[in-house]
Parts: sequence; structure tokens; C-alpha cells
Amino acid sequence: MADCNIVAKNPHLLHLSFLLCFLFVSKFHHVSGLNYSNYNRKVTSLRLGRIQKHLEKINKPPLIKIESPDGDIIDCVHKRKQPALDHPLLKSHKIQRVPPEMPKVKRMKQNEASVKGASRQWQTWHRNGTRCPKGTVPIRRSSVHDVLRAKSLFHFGKKQRRLVDPARRRADAPDIVSGNGHEHAIAYTGTTQEFYGARATINVWDPSIEEVNEFSLSQIWVLSGSLDGPDLNSIEAGWQVSPELYGDSRPRLFTYWTTDSYQATGCYNLLCAGFVQTNSRVAIGASISPISQYAANQYDITILIWKDPKLGNWWIGFGDSTLIGYWPAELFTHLADHAAMVEWGGEVVNSRAKGQHTSTQMGSGQFPGDGFGKSSYFRNLEVVDADNSLTSVRDISTLAENTNCYNIKSSNSNEWGTFFYYGGPGNNPRCP
Ligand SMILES: *[C@@H]1O[C@H](CO)[C@@H](O)[C@H](O)[C@H]1NC(C)=O
Ligand SMILES: *[C@@H]1O[C@H](CO)[C@@H](O)[C@H](O)[C@H]1NC(C)=O
Repeated sequence: MADCNIVAKNPHLLHLSFLLCFLFVSKFHHVSGLNYSNYNRKVTSLRLGRIQKHLEKINKPPLIKIESPDGDIIDCVHKRKQPALDHPLLKSHKIQRVPPEMPKVKRMKQNEASVKGASRQWQTWHRNGTRCPKGTVPIRRSSVHDVLRAKSLFHFGKKQRRLVDPARRRADAPDIVSGNGHEHAIAYTGTTQEFYGARATINVWDPSIEEVNEFSLSQIWVLSGSLDGPDLNSIEAGWQVSPELYGDSRPRLFTYWTTDSYQATGCYNLLCAGFVQTNSRVAIGASISPISQYAANQYDITILIWKDPKLGNWWIGFGDSTLIGYWPAELFTHLADHAAMVEWGGEVVNSRAKGQHTSTQMGSGQFPGDGFGKSSYFRNLEVVDADNSLTSVRDISTLAENTNCYNIKSSNSNEWGTFFYYGGPGNNPRCP
């Protein structure tokens, strides 16, 4: 059989001259003990051609490309050439130049120095030293391998459609995805208030993932529409480890959106048209470094999602004042107005690959009881109200489907406002 690895390594070289040739995909990153070469597959040139066509659509020609030490290619793409503007609803969209009105802070300014051992952090590709030029945005380039790890080209960049199993779904469960192997440890607001955004500071770990098609993420959900119907609007952001999506086990900054309950609309990051990036320093989907170490330094990221009161776009901010970009108002139905609920917390997929609960970790892999330096946390949980003011969220409920596998414990303090520890190891004697 012909060796077509060169095709996979450099997708731009792909031509139909490989018509009779099979690609045997064997080059996978080998990181932290995970061996993704188990996912070797034969790929026909027809399929490869379809993948290549799709990649040409989403990988825009860069002004320059930056090689990240983690193996990523970051393309610096002219702002007006970014994938967002391919969306049929955004044909005449003008990229916002004027920054949105930031939410007003009602709480006392937090003394960052008082957060023991926790500090700010950044992305791995910055270590290269090269920056994206003005007027461009950094976009993580997708490779043939990225697509081949997905269940299909259609599934690439999408969360698996949820199959809600009513028998397993708790009557009061705010989510959505009980069943289908998705497990959660989350905090959530009630549904009687109108929300215009949410913020939290999340510490970053690298939970281990047992199977390539599992993931572990820690994120904020901003939701509207019916939780178990076909019309759920969701905006999501946080960090995730997803071998399937990225080919390694590094934690990465990610976003997600959908307007139809994860069916046809929306995707992770900039893997489909919709999200408009404005920032030239933050690459969505790029890995985060450094990360928290057990009983040592803790690193966290602050994520703010809110609706611009003037134009109605949903913005995402990073840290105290960095704007990353926005989801244009045109994309949404229910979220065109306000959010009906906010959730914060962890989600993993447990595939029960070997007939038992996998040892895929959530958060730090420790249960919440272990506390600071050992357990993963969300601190300073806040929501944005109709006045565009940030306030500490008061009434939250928590949910974990199986507390022997992953759990959550919320609390309050002056420094951390409303906060919680969450996570767990997955498989253990009490979680078989
Ligand atoms: C990964 O797994 C494959 C097949 O199971 C094996 O042939 C290969 O040697 C492994 N690679 C590493 C680096 O462990
Ligand atoms: C950074 O990336 C650029 C563009 O790919 C490359 O030319 C350069 O050698 C890289 N620098 C380092 C220090 O790796």
C-alpha cells in the first residue's frame, strides 16, 4: 500500500492524483501517556478530498503563520477574512470596532494578591515570541488528522447530539445531557430571573482522559430555550481537554454555541461560521500554560460573557479587561433577548469503554473535599443583570449525577464570593 503520510502532514499538497492511494493515518501526537495511534484508520481518497474541501473553507489563508511549541499552527488571518463572515446571516455584518459597554462592577474590587498562590496565565503559542500583525486574528489551524479523529466530517467541531433518556433524567435537572455518557458536577441559577451575562474565575488543570472520544471540560453555560427541546440556545466557554478535537491532552481555551440544541447549528471555537474574533493575542482552541499543580502553584482564568446592551451581541472577555470577540445577535433566537439560566461547572464523557466507568478525570481529578491547591474551583460566580451590572450570584443549586464519581461543594467567602470546588477521579471502588 502506498505511503501517503506526506498528504496528511501537509494538507495543501493534497490533489486528486492520489485517487488510487489509501492514506494510512499513523502520525498522532503522543502526550502524557495517551497513545492516539490506536485510532489508525484507512481513509479513501474520496473522503480525504471531502475533508480537504472542508478545511479549505475553514482554514483561511494567513498573512503569517506561527508555530507553537505544542505543535499547533496559529494562522494570523485578516479580520475580515475570518470564518464568521461566511455565515449566511452575517453577509453584510460590520465587525464591531467600538468596544461594547463593559458590565459595571457592584462588588468591592477584589484584592488579587490575597488569592493565595493563584496567578494569571497565558497561552503556549505566545512562547514562540511571534505576534499576529495588527488587523489580523490568530486562528488555530485544523488538520486532516483533527477531522479524522471525529466520528464524521459532519460531527467535526460539534458536540455530540444529546439523546436525553427521560428515565434517567431527574425531574429537576437543569441539564440537558443526563444520559449519553455525559456526567456533570455543576452549579446553576434559578429560571425566574433574566440574565444578561455571567462571569467566573476557573482554575486550570490537565485531567487525564482514558478514551480518545471522551473529554473533560470546565465551563460557563449561558442558556435560553427549552432544556430538553430542539430549540435550546447556548453560549459556552471555558477550558477543555479533548483528544478527539485537538489530538493531545492539553487543556485549551474553548468556546461553543448552538441555537438548536446541538443539532445543525454552532460549533466549538472558530470551526464554523458565527463567532467573530476581535482580539489578536488570544487564540481560541489554543493550549493554556502554565497549569495548576497538585499542592503547588495554582493558575486560574477569568471568563466573562455578556450581552452588549446597545447592539445585542454576546461578547466574551478574558481576564479583567481583554475582549476576545463576540457572537453576533443575528445568530440567536431565544438568546436574542436574554438568558434564562446560567450554569458553571464540569462535564465529562464516560464511554464505559471496558464495561466499567472510565478513569477520565474532572477538574484536578480530586474530589471537592480536598480544597485549595488540590481540588479544582470556580470562584467569584457572578451574573450580569438588566442594568449591565455584575453581581455575585446568590441562589445557586448544585447537581452531580453520581457523587461517587464526580462531586461539587459550594460555599461563600469575602474574597471568593460564591464559589465551589468540584471534580473527581471517575473510576474508583465506589464508582465501578
Ligand atoms: C501506540 O499503540 C500502537 C498500537 O497499539 C503501537 O504499535 C505503538 O508502538 C504505540 N506507540 C507508542 C509511542 O507507545
Ligand atoms: C515561531 O514561528 C515562526 C513562524 O512559523 C517561525 O518562523 C519561527 O522559527 C518560530 N520561532 C521559534 C522560536 O520557534
